[in-house]
Amino acid sequence: MNPVVVERPGAVQLAVLPPLALYVHIPWCVRKCPYCDFNSHERSGALPEAEYVDALFADLEALLPSVWGRRLISVFIGGGTPSLFSPASIDALLSGVRARLPLEPGAEITLEANPGTVEAARFRGFRDAGVNRISIGVQSFDDRDARQARPHPQRRRSAQRDRRGARFVRAASTST
Ligand SMILES: C[S@@+](CC[C@H](N)C(=O)[O-])C[C@H]1O[C@@H](n2cnc3c(N)ncnc32)[C@H](O)[C@@H]1O
Ligand code: SF4
Repeated sequence: MNPVVVERPGAVQLAVLPPLALYVHIPWCVRKCPYCDFNSHERSGALPEAEYVDALFADLEALLPSVWGRRLISVFIGGGTPSLFSPASIDALLSGVRARLPLEPGAEITLEANPGTVEAARFRGFRDAGVNRISIGVQSFDDRDARQARPHPQRRRSAQRDRRGARFVRAASTST
C-alpha cells in the first residue's frame, strides 16, 4: 500500500503518520576530551539531574502539538556522558517520555556510556529503567592511541579500560 495520498498538486497527505525517533541530550562529562566537538561540558560538583529532566519535559511538551498521533519507535539518550546520571533519573526521564508519547513495546532505547564511568549496579538500574542498548565510545584498543585520544590522568591505560568497560556492560546486562 502506498501511504502517500496526493489530493492536489502541492498538498501531500500521509495515510499513515511516520513513526518518531527521539534524541535526548545530556551534556555533562567527567572531563572534556580535547578532540570533542559535541555539546559537552566538564561537570563541576553534583549534576542538576531532577531540574534537567524537568527542563527536558518542558521542551518535549512544547513540541507535542507538532507530533500528535505519531508513535515513538526509538529513544537515544546521548551526550556528553549520560551514564553519569543515576538510574533513578534515567527511569524518571523514560517514564515521563512514556507518559507524553506512545512508546512502542520493544522500542530500541539507547544510552551512551563512556567506559570510564561504567559501574555494574548502575547498568542494571539502567536496564531496569528500560534501556536495552548501550553505545560505548571506544577511541582505540591500542594503548598509545587511546592515551592520545583521552590524555587526562584519569584515563591512563584507557585502551585496557575500554576493553574492561565493554566486558563489564555485557556482564551487567545479562545478569539478574
Ligand atoms: C560525543 S561522545 C558521547 C559518548 C561518550 N561520552 C564517549 O566519549 O564515548 C561519542 C563519540 O563521539 C566521538 N567524537 C567526539 N568528538 C568527535 C569529533 N570531533 N569528531 C568525530 N567524532 C568525535 C568519540 O569517538 C566518542 O566516543
Ligand atoms: S567523554 Fe565523550 S562527550 Fe565527553 S568530551 Fe569526551 S568524547 Fe566528548
